[in-house]
Amino acid sequence: MDNRGISQAVIRRLPRYYRYLGELLENGVERISSNDLSKRMKVTASQIRQDLNNFGGFGQQGYGYNVKYLYTEIGKILGLEEDHKIIIIGAGNLGQALANYAAFEKRGFILTGIFDVNPRLEGVAIRGVPIRMMDELKSFVQKNDVEIAVLTIPKEKAIEVANMLVENGVRAIWNFAHTDLNLPDNIIVENVHLSESLMQLSYNISRYNEDQRKKGKN
Ligand code: NAI
Repeated sequence: MDNRGISQAVIRRLPRYYRYLGELLENGVERISSNDLSKRMKVTASQIRQDLNNFGGFGQQGYGYNVKYLYTEIGKILGLEEDHKIIIIGAGNLGQALANYAAFEKRGFILTGIFDVNPRLEGVAIRGVPIRMMDELKSFVQKNDVEIAVLTIPKEKAIEVANMLVENGVRAIWNFAHTDLNLPDNIIVENVHLSESLMQLSYNISRYNEDQRKKGKN
């Protein structure tokens, strides 16, 4: 299926559909109407229909959606059917927390290597994967056909390390360092900023508090 015409906004919503459908599946739900899904996900039913129509719908009038089928198809669209080898660069607080998160494997992201510059970390294993030193990185990436690198190093080092990774065949970077990487267009970069999510939360708290104050005045 060709998904290239689909907006990034729709693509960004798919993981959430995937998560909800996965839960339904675990609870033995075989089919669901867009209205029921809408209530659970707190998204309008028309948004759901519109989003899923981008991929040919998968729904049937009067029947709703076949949960297993929809879950599988969205998984395919998200590329979760294939395994992806990932490495983590920077085994500090965040890098180790991510390395410890076993659920990535469930989605096909196979933690293959962890790298750092701190000699005290050398050989320490996280879920059976030993932390290696950076001088091994080049040959490791080349030999193991690593597709994705997670960057959890200080931002001052991120650009240099990202360039080196890309030169040696890494095709995608999950970038936690707070800096823009400016890599070639064919390299996929996903920047993650937890603080942006927290600011969103802060905004919503402020709005809620303001509403409460206004209500108090009335
Ligand atoms: P940390 O100081 O605990 O870990 C950083 C690790 O990187 C250390 O083990 C250090 O030895 C290693 N390192 C330093 N230079 C390196 C290099 N050139 N190559 C390989 N490893 C190197 O820091 P923490 O808390 O784990 O944060 C890591 C990075 O992630 C920082 O840049 C931080 O700002 C960022 N961060 C981003 C978040 C986000 O939401 N995007 C959230 C939390 C942290």
